[in-house]
Amino acid sequence: MDKYAVFGNPIKHSKSPAIHKQFAISLGEQIDYRAILAPIDSFEKTVSTFFEQGGKGANVTMPFKEQAFAMADELTPLAKIVGAVNTLKKRDDGTLLGDNTDGVGFVNDLLANKVVITNKRILIIGAGGAARGVILPLLEQKPAEIILVNRTAQKAKNLAQLFAEYGKVSGYGFDDLPVSDYSLIVNSTSSSMNNELPALDKKHLTCCDVAYDMFYSLTNTIFMNWVAGHNNSTKLLDGSGMLVGQAAQAYYVWHNKMPEILPVVKALKQGSLK
Ligand code: ATR
Repeated sequence: MDKYAVFGNPIKHSKSPAIHKQFAISLGEQIDYRAILAPIDSFEKTVSTFFEQGGKGANVTMPFKEQAFAMADELTPLAKIVGAVNTLKKRDDGTLLGDNTDGVGFVNDLLANKVVITNKRILIIGAGGAARGVILPLLEQKPAEIILVNRTAQKAKNLAQLFAEYGKVSGYGFDDLPVSDYSLIVNSTSSSMNNELPALDKKHLTCCDVAYDMFYSLTNTIFMNWVAGHNNSTKLLDGSGMLVGQAAQAYYVWHNKMPEILPVVKALKQGSLK
């Protein structure tokens, strides 16, 4: 049986083995996918040993995505611009391809939930690695514009500049963010992890059809509750869909088959994924 694994530190609570097992069942396949704890100072050695022993593909999570980027023999254009790799594939010639499926997974989850991106104005809160990973896959869906807003305004401006050649992207601080018809608002900051809200004024929620918190949570996050409190017609989504979406895209990279996302998100939320 083909061997796959997710590497991280810590890794015990990773949902990836259960998600991939569920994908394989839904597609009538069998895979061996396990979670492997990589020591902080020997990620590369741990992953190399896995591939030498017949591993076909690896997912990589915190804190090793930059090291996975460095060890890939070839990078997809998306991984190259994001500067981080979460999926490694051993190719027939023995070389390692590095990809980043986080952004495509996010967009796949939006599309699975029938969220309209094309011609819409999208507001992304935050300008860290999570925001960086989703900008190109979002631009591929031809939105009217992507607007980045960040606590440290200069980081939003710099990130917007980086993607300027690919589409209309602009960056602001919370104080100078223009009021506009943002139909999708994405919280890519780590604020929900600390039960904090980004300093977005509620006036920006008026046209918000969908609010998405990238933070993975079994219940509504503080950000989702805040949006719901000011616009009760907004659809709320959290990072569990992105978690399953990035896994589905990795499955596709390895097996050339795309599993369905929503049934697995449902099982994850119900706690029935084993
Ligand atoms: P990640 O890779 O998860 O995006 P990161 O690169 O450390 O992590 O970026 C974290 C992001 O969350 C940044 O945009 C950060 O804002 P700053 O650049 O101003 O630091 C944002 N962030 C974290 N906590 C926040 C909070 N309480 N309010 C607003 N933004 C917050």
